[in-house]
Amino acid sequence: MQKKDIKWSELGFSYIKTDKRYISRWKDGKWDDGQLVEDNMIPINEGSTCLHYGQECFEGLKAYSTKDGGIQLFRPDENAKRMQKSCAKVLMPEVPVEKFIDACMQVVKANEAWVPPYGSGATLYLRPFVIGVGENIGVRPAPEYIFGVFCMPVGPYFKGGMTPVNFITTDADRAAPNGTGKAKVGGNYAASLLSHKEAVDKGFADCIYLDPSTHTKIDEVGAANFFGVTKDNKFITPHSSSILPSITRISLMQVAKDYLGMEAIETDVYVDKLDMFAEAGACGTAAVITPIGGIEHKGKFHVFHSETEVGPVTKKLYDTLYGIQMGDVKAPEGWIYKV
Ligand code: PLP
Ligand code: COI
Repeated sequence: MQKKDIKWSELGFSYIKTDKRYISRWKDGKWDDGQLVEDNMIPINEGSTCLHYGQECFEGLKAYSTKDGGIQLFRPDENAKRMQKSCAKVLMPEVPVEKFIDACMQVVKANEAWVPPYGSGATLYLRPFVIGVGENIGVRPAPEYIFGVFCMPVGPYFKGGMTPVNFITTDADRAAPNGTGKAKVGGNYAASLLSHKEAVDKGFADCIYLDPSTHTKIDEVGAANFFGVTKDNKFITPHSSSILPSITRISLMQVAKDYLGMEAIETDVYVDKLDMFAEAGACGTAAVITPIGGIEHKGKFHVFHSETEVGPVTKKLYDTLYGIQMGDVKAPEGWIYKV
C-alpha cells in the first residue's frame, strides 16, 4: 500500500479530508446498511435538532500501525458502548456495537493510505457521530438520524506531545452534576469553548474544570481526564458524576495495576491538596498522556514533577499504554481489534 506523501511527524490535530467516510441513516425505526461515500458534506434540513437543540453525540478513537505492517483499533467496543449511553441520554436511537465497529473497520480499510506508518508518532483519528436530522421546529427528538464515521491522520493534541504543559483552573462549569457531563454530547463542548479560549489567552494549554457543586475538586482537564501519581506511588484519578468516563483512563488504571504494580484509585482530588502528587497528567484519546507541568489556581502556581521534564512514572505509563496500542507490548485480552 502506497502511503500518502505527508510529513507525518509534523502533523498536529487538524482536519484533513481523507478519501472515504461512512454514512448510515435511521428512519422509520431502523438503521439502513450504511455505505462508504466520497462527499464530506452532509446536506440536512434547516430545522434539524442537531443544529438547534444539540441533539447529537460523537466519539473519538484511533487506528495504529504495527511493526509488522498491520493496523489495529484500541478498544472500539468501549467507544461503541459509550456512544450508546450518549445516544440514550439525548433520546437518539442507539447504534449496535457490531455496526459501530464494522463502520470503523470499513473507514480505516478504505483510507489505508492515510494511516500513519509505524514509528511516525502519528495515528489515524476516527470520529464517529450521531446527529438528529429531518423536518422539525419544536423541542422534541428528531424524526430521522445520521450515523457517520470519518477519519484523518493526527499528531499531538497538545503541542509538544510528551512535553509538560501548564493549565489554569476556571470558574466555569462545562456540565452539571446531574446533567450531560458523562455523555459525549456537543453541548458540553460548546460550553467549554470560552473557558478554553480564556486559558489559552493567558498562556496555558487549556483550563481545568472543578466539580460544579463546590469548586474544590478537580473534574477534568479540558477535553481529557486528570490523573496524578502520589508521592507514595499510587495512581489517582477523580471520581465525579460530571466527567466523561475516559477509555484511556480506565485503561491506564489497569496498566498502573497490572503492568506497573501500582494501586489505582478513583477518588476526590482536592485542588488545594496538589502537594500529595509527585506527577500529574491529562489522558484521553486525542491527548494520549500529556504530562502536566503545573496548575494555576486562584493566582497560585503549583508545579508537579517539572515544567520541562516528564516524570518517570508518567513516562512508564505512556510507554506501556502506547506500546499496547501499537502492538509492541502484550495487550490485555480483548483490547485490540485487528483491522
Ligand atoms: N474528557 C473529555 C471531555 C473528552 O472529550 C475526552 C475525549 O474523548 C476524554 C475526557 C478522554 O476520553 P477517552 O480516553 O475515552 O478518549
Ligand atoms: C478525544 O480525545 O477523542 C476527544 O474527543 C477530545 C477532543 C478532540 C474533543
